[in-house]
Amino acid sequence: MTGSPRLFPESLWTPLKMSPFCCWGLCVAFLALLCCPGSGEEAFEVHVSPEQPMVKHGGSQVINCSTNCTKPENGGLETSLDKIVLQDSPQWKLFMIFNVSQNSSMRCFFWCSRKQGSKSLNVGLYYPPKQVLLKLQPTRVAVGSPFTIECRVPSVAPLEGLTVTLLRGSEVLHSQTFEGTALSPQEAMVTYSAEAQLEDSSHNFSCQAKMDLRTRGVKVVDSVSDSQALEVFGCDA
Ligand SMILES: *[C@@H]1O[C@H](CO)[C@@H](O)[C@H](O)[C@H]1NC(C)=O
Ligand SMILES: *[C@@H]1O[C@H](CO)[C@@H](O)[C@H](O)[C@H]1NC(C)=O
Ligand SMILES: *[C@@H]1O[C@H](CO)[C@@H](O)[C@H](O)[C@H]1NC(C)=O
Ligand SMILES: *[C@@H]1O[C@H](CO)[C@@H](O)[C@H](O)[C@H]1NC(C)=O
Ligand SMILES: *[C@@H]1O[C@H](CO)[C@@H](O)[C@H](O)[C@H]1NC(C)=O
Repeated sequence: MTGSPRLFPESLWTPLKMSPFCCWGLCVAFLALLCCPGSGEEAFEVHVSPEQPMVKHGGSQVINCSTNCTKPENGGLETSLDKIVLQDSPQWKLFMIFNVSQNSSMRCFFWCSRKQGSKSLNVGLYYPPKQVLLKLQPTRVAVGSPFTIECRVPSVAPLEGLTVTLLRGSEVLHSQTFEGTALSPQEAMVTYSAEAQLEDSSHNFSCQAKMDLRTRGVKVVDSVSDSQALEVFGCDA
């Protein structure tokens, strides 16, 4: 046959065109509804907990795969990561995945009455603040003259949940939160300018980076820079 290409053979296409009140998908769904409850198979579900884990780069995570099938034949966790089984019971299995170095998707599955049910999950990586680098510029300044505090936090992700706080002694000078859900590590930076006061020289400056991903089931991580002194001299000095 040459000429206009057809998507379907004539024999299949014609009956479809001839049933305007029942599109193909609906017919299939309807047939499935009619046939399946009668077949005596047990409906079951597969659950995974946590559903969207966040794991520290290079870290590990416990994952619970479970089902409400009353007598599952077997089950498991499909992943390319290293894993071990921590606990095993008929209706749930506890796994530990470790050395997670890239975000990846995996799948929990159970067999029940010779049918497989599964649930996929994505493991996202986070990079907690490790280094917090503080820089005062200049480090020696006249009263009333400006100076700058710069704080850099290299290789963090995601930026959402990160708060960088500049401190003079225990007093908060400035606090900044970040946005961004990107999972690739990047640098967060905060700068703050002020005029030097005499009492600045009697406190140390420091910078604190705090990552709060509690909504994603991760404990708060914080890290503090070395403290630095500002040398302030009076006009008569
Ligand atoms: C499993 O849970 C689903 C949804 O709640 C339910 O429809 C199904 O009947 C349950 N199966 C068993 C064996 O309890
Ligand atoms: C795993 O999940 C199942 C279902 O929620 C629960 O019954 C079981 O106690 C969990 N196991 C552990 C060790 O948390
Ligand atoms: C983790 O993975 C890295 C690179 O893939 C490998 O060099 C290292 O040996 C692994 N560590 C463990 C504890 O498996
Ligand atoms: C995993 O990382 C890649 C690139 O780094 C990104 O495109 C993808 O969306 C990430 N997947 C998840 C589940 O976050
Ligand atoms: C500031 O830090 C230095 C060393 O880091 C320390 O010796 C000094 O006591 C600190 N000063 C104050 C006021 O905390």
